[in-house]
Amino acid sequence: MLLQHATWIEAEAYLKRSTGIIMPIGSTEQHGPNGLIGTDALCAEVIARGVGEAADAFVGPTIGVGMAVHHMGFAGSMTVRPSTLIQIIHDYVLSLAHHGFRRFFFLNGHGGNIATINAAFYEVYAAAEGVLGKAGVDEPLRCKLVNWWDSPQVGALSRDLFGADEGSHATASEVAVTQWAFPDTIKQAVLDPPRAPSGRFHGPSDFRRRYPDGRIGSNPGLASPEKGKRLYDAAVPDLAQFYRDFVAGE
Ligand code: NI
Repeated sequence: MLLQHATWIEAEAYLKRSTGIIMPIGSTEQHGPNGLIGTDALCAEVIARGVGEAADAFVGPTIGVGMAVHHMGFAGSMTVRPSTLIQIIHDYVLSLAHHGFRRFFFLNGHGGNIATINAAFYEVYAAAEGVLGKAGVDEPLRCKLVNWWDSPQVGALSRDLFGADEGSHATASEVAVTQWAFPDTIKQAVLDPPRAPSGRFHGPSDFRRRYPDGRIGSNPGLASPEKGKRLYDAAVPDLAQFYRDFVAGE
């Protein structure tokens, strides 16, 4: 269930049986000529809802704008600085910890967030030790980061469906998931070359110079709603098991 669709009475009842919550986190940034600017946030949110249903767990509000400085060369992209994102994660987690939530399962849709999320977890732990203290009395606060593509079934399926055309930004898989979840938003675009170049980048202008249409190594022209449904169906059971193991673990 979405936290935002629950009442406080339901939240209080939930906390009597679980202290776990799924926290979707993504990004709002360009995803090439046929990928939605919201791709990373939308994928994280849609998959988190499925995992929440499968694991009978609450799903918190999506952190929809992430660390995407390198995408700012393209219209519509938004970013928060790493320091801002750390504060957002800190405040989201500590708000919920105040009520008794203790296991925070961050379901991430954007590779650019990973370093900052891990840094934020240590800010949270530092604060939680001070606020909650009393080691051994209270259940310890734990955070975990999982990217939706960490699902082994997703990895196998995306290799099967797209091979080397999967790429690393504006991937065929993530575009497919949004095409399935939001069929009214499917875009048609010429992708030239069909598979974008691969490589590294530095800041926003360097990114745009190397990857003029925004993609890295991908051919999202191979995406389809049907493939997106298969990827979603592959992701949910794996990630639900990751969640259950995390909540039950030390
Ligand atoms: Ni993405």
